Amino acid sequence: MDALPRPKLKSKKPKYSRFTQQELPAWKPILTPGWVIASFVAVAILFIPAGLLCLSASERVVEIIDRYDDECLPDSYSNKGDSFIQSKDTNKTCVRTMKVPKKMTAPVFIYYQLDNFYQNHRRYVKSRSDKQLRDPGFADETRDCKPEDNLHGDENEPIIPCGLVAWSLFNDTYILSKGNKVLDINKKDIAWKSDTEIKFGSDVYPKNFQKGELIGGGELDETKPLSEQEDLIVWMRTAALPNFRKLYGKINSDLEANETITIVIQNNYNTYEFGGEKRIVLSTMSWIGGKNDFFGIAFLTIGGICLFMAINFILLYVCKPRPLGDPSYLSWNRNPSGQ
Ligand SMILES: *[C@@H]1O[C@H](CO)[C@@H](O)[C@H](O)[C@H]1NC(C)=O
Ligand SMILES: *[C@@H]1O[C@H](CO)[C@@H](O)[C@H](O)[C@H]1NC(C)=O
Repeated sequence: MDALPRPKLKSKKPKYSRFTQQELPAWKPILTPGWVIASFVAVAILFIPAGLLCLSASERVVEIIDRYDDECLPDSYSNKGDSFIQSKDTNKTCVRTMKVPKKMTAPVFIYYQLDNFYQNHRRYVKSRSDKQLRDPGFADETRDCKPEDNLHGDENEPIIPCGLVAWSLFNDTYILSKGNKVLDINKKDIAWKSDTEIKFGSDVYPKNFQKGELIGGGELDETKPLSEQEDLIVWMRTAALPNFRKLYGKINSDLEANETITIVIQNNYNTYEFGGEKRIVLSTMSWIGGKNDFFGIAFLTIGGICLFMAINFILLYVCKPRPLGDPSYLSWNRNPSGQ
């Protein structure tokens, strides 16, 4: 009887290397009190001034906010904002004044702020066609845009730009004046460069937009390509939170303290339907952006906690020092009976 050929055994032993043999050098720092205190102090020294710097920058930003959706609704319509907006006969003009609290140096940014407007809703966010916005060859690419995809009717022509996001374009307008001089509002370059240059085509023109039965918002100039419709571009960069601000324009002149600014608002946009709020915001800017105390407070909190820990450790170290690595502190050495 022939013995079965034995399978050749291959050694599974790994080749020698310092990695497989776990002989790599390791760093095992010993956290001596000195090290710990020094690191806490270092973090505190970095973060506390940074926090103060951020807070003072935010403090220097001058901001005026005026809520107008409630004030601009005539009393006779107080519970029927919806029909006020949809009626063709109501007068939507509304005059508001605001006082400049501190000198505002140019450029002064004008924002509209919407509250309780969920631009982040999944079905809303997806209701757009980026291909169509970019390329005139994809005008028919309106699959994701229902119900604002085509003119439903005999023509069945695509709407450009399609979808709910574009359809709900904000359509309040503001005219600002100081005394009886109207302030120039510059609406150029309010959108991101990447959007105007890449995402919105310079040879795509609006078509059939806002032609349905229900008007969702602003209209577009059909003679201007989408890449120049900056209000639309700003609007279509959907906000992540239900309370958001979007840039309306810029004023390139200073506003002095105590000056009164008159704003003539066309109160067109329907936020009454869902209990949303509308505000106009005038704001200057600093290196930190608009008014925002978050970073300042966050940095100060971190710095403060570290400083507090450092002081505690210093006190412990001074008042109750003990030698490092002394085995007599181990519990079983302190209590030899083991009970
Ligand atoms: C503005 O948008 C609302 C919807 O929010 C619409 O009912 C109204 O007709 C629009 N008005 C103008 C002037 O575009
Ligand atoms: C603005 O008004 C306040 C109070 O009316 C006054 O104290 C202040 O000096 C004024 N500021 C300027 C720059 O006129």
